Amino acid sequence: MPFEDLLAAPSPLAKQAERLRHYRFGLRISEQGKVVSVGDGIAWIEGLPSARMDEIVLLEDGSTALVFHLARERFGAILLHQTERLTAGTTALLSGQRLSIAVGEGLMGRVVDPLGIPLDDLPAPHLTARRALDILSPPIIERDFVNRPLYTGNKIIDTLIPIGKGQRQLIIGDNGTGKSALALDALINQKGKNIRCVYVMIGQKRSSVIGLIETLRRTGALEYTCVVVAEATAMPGLKYLAPFAGCTLAEAWMWQGHDTLVIYDDLTTHARTYRELSLLLRRPPGREAYPGDIFYLHARLLERSTVLAARHGGGSMTALPIVETEQGEIAAYIPTNLISITDGQVYLDQDLFARGFLPAIDVTRSVSRIGGAAQDPGIKKEAGRMKLDYLQFLDLEVFTRFGSRLEASMEARIKRGQLLREILKQERLAPLPVEFQMAWMTAFNCGLLDGLAPERIKPLLQDLLLKVHASELSLSGGREQWRNAVRLWLSEAGHEQAA
Ligand SMILES: Nc1ncnc2c1ncn2[C@@H]1O[C@H](COP(=O)(O)OP(=O)(O)OP(=O)(O)O)[C@@H](O)[C@H]1O
Ligand SMILES: [Mg+2]
Repeated sequence: MPFEDLLAAPSPLAKQAERLRHYRFGLRISEQGKVVSVGDGIAWIEGLPSARMDEIVLLEDGSTALVFHLARERFGAILLHQTERLTAGTTALLSGQRLSIAVGEGLMGRVVDPLGIPLDDLPAPHLTARRALDILSPPIIERDFVNRPLYTGNKIIDTLIPIGKGQRQLIIGDNGTGKSALALDALINQKGKNIRCVYVMIGQKRSSVIGLIETLRRTGALEYTCVVVAEATAMPGLKYLAPFAGCTLAEAWMWQGHDTLVIYDDLTTHARTYRELSLLLRRPPGREAYPGDIFYLHARLLERSTVLAARHGGGSMTALPIVETEQGEIAAYIPTNLISITDGQVYLDQDLFARGFLPAIDVTRSVSRIGGAAQDPGIKKEAGRMKLDYLQFLDLEVFTRFGSRLEASMEARIKRGQLLREILKQERLAPLPVEFQMAWMTAFNCGLLDGLAPERIKPLLQDLLLKVHASELSLSGGREQWRNAVRLWLSEAGHEQAA
């Protein structure tokens, strides 16, 4: 079945007829190889001297493999599909084709594997175009600058670490610090914003996969999302291909002029799979036993995220790759690689998570190198004021640990900082509109929330959110107008400070 799927041309019948018309009898030489050994998701094959890297190999039993490592008189291939009849001695033929995947509209709302085969028990989507999985990123002259914002609905990210369309923003943190939750919230926030999403799950448990799909369905986000899954039990070859498949789907949409968002969850597992395959195929190991080209592998993937120039439709692909650290060690090999490839990172801190500051984003270790250019100027101004207060507070907080007596002005600053930290807490699956970010920042910066008891913050912000939803005030409204509106809303919500 994957055979026909992999090799299906747009219109096979017409091509066949064309070929027959030009058919000439004569002597032809073709190569026929055989499998030498097979196991752990790879196969060694000999007798096919003209094999090329990344070419599909067809095996007699119906399995398919991809040429991965060329050696003397034989090559190593990663299996994409395996039957039980595959053994040493099975005949192998070269297909002359590179791996491609069916792309198009029909993939929205679907769950597929990295070869595009549906996993959701629904009929195969109607797709007419195919696109190679591993192709070069668009050249510089076909690109544009990142200059439109992509809102994640997260209080901290949208204000302090803004992301633009076409940006690559790494989500980095220890195991279980809320990385996937943050990425998922960003995806859910794209509802009604005409952005197509791809969520790539690499090597995760089936329960997590089901959980994600269920959440997407419940929140209505599945409608504009395609989930690409290579579970933990999938063949290593599929786990290795998964991010490239997801990227290819989004890329096809991007070239049609759509804005897209891709989440790679996560590239640590991807790197480990690549290491496993490379070691099995006896490629020379480098640092931490990863093959020397692991940087190139991830750079090749993430460079494909970009904004296309207007004459190419102006589509974009924003990427949120996720990487896991061990005990906060961001200087490990794969995290440093990814930090240098991407345009910034959101760092999730174990310590903040343990203390209940969720989402556990460490503002001091997070950065967005290019998103500022795409941020709304009004938001940017308010965020700048707020950031200053917050950073000062974080510095001062260190002193308070020694229990020293503080000046009254410092005391006040710390109070304000603690208030801000309380405001910045955000629950899961509750993305917020950007107008709300403007409202609470204005309230905080103008001191309208000073002295508020911690337990009153949540309900007050909830009331404020309702007011923002009901109002038509836009971001470009100007500071004065926002301040007056927020003051009115707060006093209507029963907050006497604002009155
Ligand atoms: N803002 C939040 N509010 C409340 N709970 C949260 C929040 N963010 C994450 N969590 C909870 O923290 C736990 C870990 O989250 P998540 O699975 O997203 O982390 P992760 O970093 O992706 O983990 P892993 O490393 O296992 O992939 C989950 O139970 C999730 O519900
Ligand atoms: Mg996760």
